Amino acid sequence: MEEHWVSYNSGRHFLQIPGPTNVPDRVLHAMSYPTIDHRGPDFQALGADVLERIKPVFGTTNPVIIFPASGTGAWEAALVNTLSPGDQVLMFETGHFAKLWQNMAQRLGFEPELIESDWRHGADPAAIEKRLSEDRDHEIKAVAVVHNETSTGVTSRIAEIRKAIDNANHPALLLVDTISSLGSIRYEHDAWGVDVTVSGSQKGLMLPPGLSFNAVSDKALDASKASRHPRSYWDWQEMLGPNDAGFFPYTPATNLLYGLREAIDMLEEEGLQNVFARHDRHAEATRRAVTAWGFDIVCANPAEYSSALTAVLVPDSVDPDALRRTILENFDMSLGAGLSKLKGKAFRIGHLGDFNDLTLAGTLSGVEMGLKRAGIAHQSGGVQAALDYLAETAGSAAKVA
Ligand SMILES: Cc1ncc(COP(=O)(O)O)c(C=O)c1O
Repeated sequence: MEEHWVSYNSGRHFLQIPGPTNVPDRVLHAMSYPTIDHRGPDFQALGADVLERIKPVFGTTNPVIIFPASGTGAWEAALVNTLSPGDQVLMFETGHFAKLWQNMAQRLGFEPELIESDWRHGADPAAIEKRLSEDRDHEIKAVAVVHNETSTGVTSRIAEIRKAIDNANHPALLLVDTISSLGSIRYEHDAWGVDVTVSGSQKGLMLPPGLSFNAVSDKALDASKASRHPRSYWDWQEMLGPNDAGFFPYTPATNLLYGLREAIDMLEEEGLQNVFARHDRHAEATRRAVTAWGFDIVCANPAEYSSALTAVLVPDSVDPDALRRTILENFDMSLGAGLSKLKGKAFRIGHLGDFNDLTLAGTLSGVEMGLKRAGIAHQSGGVQAALDYLAETAGSAAKVA
C-alpha cells in the first residue's frame, strides 16, 4: 500500500489543552440537526429557551447576551458597551490573557492601567483597593479582571475584588472574564456584584468555539445607554430587543445554539455544584501527580489554584514543547503550551469540561509516559498518587440534587 503522510490514530484523541475541550457526543449529535429558519417559531422556542436557561450558569437573573464570536468578541463587547473613548480601566496582569485584554482596551481608545504581577498570583484585592482609594475623582470607570487565567492556572478571588471596590467606595464597574472558568469553577455574577461577565463556548460549556457571552448587570445596562463609544455588531441594545422574543438581530449560530441547549441540559442533569466539585477533585488529583513527579505548579497561592487547568513549571534543562511533541506523536494527546512569558518554561494540563476519573487517569498517564519517553528526569509515582486520591475520594463529592 502506498505510504500516506497522515496515519490513522486509533481511539479518541485526548484534547487536554485548557480549551477548546472535548465536545461530548450528545452535543455533537445535537448540533447535527438541520439548520432552521432563524425567523420562524422553532427558532424562537430555541432562542428563548437558551437565553433563559443560560442565566443560572452565570449565577444571574439578568440578561445574558450571546454573540456568534470567539471569546475575544465578548471582551470587546464588554468594553465598547460600557465605556466611552478615553475612559480609564484598571486591569491586573494575571498573565497572557489579561495582557491581551489590556492591549485590546488600548487599541480601542481606552486608557488601561495595568497592575503588574509575577504571573503566579491572582488579581490582588488589596492592590486594587489601594489604587481605587487614590482615585478620588473617580477617573477609573471600570476594573477588568480575568477570573481564571488560562495561561497560568491561577483563579482570582472575584468576591474579594468586589469587596475591595466597595471598601474604596468607588463606582467603577467590575468586568470579569470567565472564558475558562464558566461551567467549571464556581462563579456568581449577581452575588459577587459583577457588572459584565465575559465568557466563551469552548471550555466548561463543552461546545466547539464560536459562541461568546456577556452577562450584564442593571448598572452595566445603564452604562451602555450613556456610553459614547462607536459600536454596531456588539451593541447590547440592538440585541436585547429581539432577544426578548427569542430572536437575534442578525443570523444567529443556530447549530451552536442547538449544542448549547444540550450542554445546558447536561449541566442541569449533573447539577452545577456537582460539576464544580468534580473539577475541584480532578484538579487536586492532578496537583498530586505533578508534585509527586517533583515539578512546581505555576500558581503559587493554594487559595488560587485553578480547578480547570494546571500549569506545570519545568526545570531550565527541560524543553516543555519537546515534551508536548513527544506526547502528541506517541500518545495522541494535546497539552497546552507555555504562553508568552511562560514559553519554554511551562506546559499546561487541561482538566475541564466533559471529563471523568478515567479520562484524568489517561491524561496523567500520557504525561508520565511522555516524561519517560523524552528522558526527562522526574520522580516516579505521579500517576499512582493521583489514582490513590481518586480511589479514596470516589463518590465522595457531595451529590446535590
Ligand atoms: C481567559 C481567556 N480569555 C480570553 C480568551 C480569548 O478567547 P478566544 O480565543 O475564544 O477569542 C481565552 C482563550 O483561551 C482565555 O482563555
